[in-house]
Amino acid sequence: MKILGTGSALPKRVVTNDDLAEFLDTNDEWISTRTGIRERRVLTDETLQSLAETAAKNAIENAGLTPQDIDFVLVSTVLAETLSPALAMDIQPAVGLKCMGVDLNGGCTGFIAALAVAEGLLAMGRARKILVLSAEALSRFSDWTDRGTCVLFGDAAGAAVVGEGDGVKDVCFRGEPRREVLFANTDPGNSPFAVDPRPACFLKMQGQEVYKFAVSHSFRDIREMLERAGLQPEDVDFYVLHQANMRILEAVRTRLKVGEDRFPHNIERTGNTSSATVPVLLDELNRAGKLKPGCRVILNAFGAGLCTGTALIEF
Ligand code: UT7
Repeated sequence: MKILGTGSALPKRVVTNDDLAEFLDTNDEWISTRTGIRERRVLTDETLQSLAETAAKNAIENAGLTPQDIDFVLVSTVLAETLSPALAMDIQPAVGLKCMGVDLNGGCTGFIAALAVAEGLLAMGRARKILVLSAEALSRFSDWTDRGTCVLFGDAAGAAVVGEGDGVKDVCFRGEPRREVLFANTDPGNSPFAVDPRPACFLKMQGQEVYKFAVSHSFRDIREMLERAGLQPEDVDFYVLHQANMRILEAVRTRLKVGEDRFPHNIERTGNTSSATVPVLLDELNRAGKLKPGCRVILNAFGAGLCTGTALIEF
């Protein structure tokens, strides 16, 4: 499999840390020093679906393809706007697609998981060109009264078109079931037969537990992938890591002992957009002309589950 093109889309509304301080007991100094986030984009009158459609169109165009060339769509999302059909089907009329589409939820690791599923479909000859897309609207299930979580998140969509090739050198996933550390329940519905319905619930998180998990597991998984490939950390041009906290990125970077130029980030502008962080950052690098032929990139993300995903890609 290789990545043929990328795309992304962000909501138009910029929400700064000062904007949040108007209704939360927080301030720009706390948020920016503890997380690196200065602003995030939040859905207002747009829909998550419209963001996904824009990212999809951009990626197909960037790949030099037409929508008719795409024969499978995989969407990573923690929560779409509708339960059914899948977002991967709902975006198809506006994008001009006409094929099978499936949503999957791998938390913040979802984009890398979807890439791996795409790789399997291509290898089995079940599809030839696949649109892999992450679309996330965390603003829709963040608790906007909880300063410990809502300040972290933003909304975004990022996409890649993949086809046959040998760009993916290694992929690795790990899970460590620890639900209580990061979870969000769905609306309990109104079944008259439910004995003990779960309460409606926003995203809940034990921040420090997630932080410790992220630093140790991201570093371990990247180091092991480098060892398997016989590479030194500086042999990788870019480490495209899940944008959850600038301090997490810095902790992993200093453990790997590589320069800041190899650790691109956009968290200061976007906040944490769950599984969309990796493809959005990848698209920014691509559009800046930085993903040149032969360029080596490591993707790495961690998230609810808890789980991690890492991939080594050569362009
Ligand atoms: O996709 C994965 C998603 N999750 C993550 O990646 C989260 C990883 N964890 C983190 O990024 C950090 O743990 C946080 C940024 C969430 C929190 O930073 P921290 O340094 O671990 O702070 P803390 O939770 O220990 O809180 C320190 C203090 C507390 O006050 P007291 O008890 O010391 O008086 C909090 O109540 O900071 C307070 N606090 C805030 N103050 C101002 C928590 N949130 C805020 C806030 N503004 N927004």
